[in-house]
Amino acid sequence: MDDRPLGIFDSGLGGLTVARALREVMPGESLIYLGDTARVPYGNKSSETIIRYSRENSRFLLSRDVKAVVVACNTASAYALETLRVELKTPVFGVIEAGVEAALKATKNNRVGIMGTSGTIRSSAYQDALKAKRPDIQLVAEATPLLVPLIEEDWLDHAATRSILEEYLWKFRRAGVDTLVLACTHYPLLKPTLLDMLGPSVELVDSARTCADYVRRELEQSGSLSAQPGGAGMEVYLTDQPAQFTRLAERFLKQKLEHVEVISVDGTHF
Ligand code: DGL
Repeated sequence: MDDRPLGIFDSGLGGLTVARALREVMPGESLIYLGDTARVPYGNKSSETIIRYSRENSRFLLSRDVKAVVVACNTASAYALETLRVELKTPVFGVIEAGVEAALKATKNNRVGIMGTSGTIRSSAYQDALKAKRPDIQLVAEATPLLVPLIEEDWLDHAATRSILEEYLWKFRRAGVDTLVLACTHYPLLKPTLLDMLGPSVELVDSARTCADYVRRELEQSGSLSAQPGGAGMEVYLTDQPAQFTRLAERFLKQKLEHVEVISVDGTHF
């Protein structure tokens, strides 16, 4: 048993969807969430920059004595996971392995779609991981960069969002995918709209939920789950306090924030 907190970082507030899923599957864990709100978005940045930011975020979490680091951001998972695993002594979990596993389990016709930020799709991390496990899989990967701002605007079921989704979904429809990986922290919020537009024949793989299940399994196997009975709480650290962050954060987390502090991760204070 290990009662130390679990550290999570994301480029911003979207990773709170992962924090929420972690709380649902492991209510006894204390969580420390770092949202790099000063430097969001990561989705259009270079791999070097994303790796540097991810190192700094992890260092901050380790300074809080976390027992593991969860990289909630798909873009950071795509570019920085291997580096962090080599450099950190603490276990590091990303969102990709779990999403890949869930997609392979879900697909019946072997045709899988992936939607994510430009960086995530360009990295080919999901495509490579899926192909490595199933070489004959048919993949359609599409960068859908307009979705993050629309979700942050709360335009979840807005006519403009539906019209943009029509454009993005066309390729997946044409390829006849039966499974669609939502490879971005924000996309779980679009699930009702996507379900309505795609119908029940397409399985949506929610990377937040699959990541939480995966982290739980791994902690269980290594005997590192917390012995606390529940309600351990979550501390939230941000690198900037953007306008309306409370509204946005509570939308992703689906509950009120308890402890929020603004910190700097590129300084030398830890
Ligand atoms: N968190 C990012 C992701 O999951 C989306 C937002 C961003 O571009 O930073 O890829």
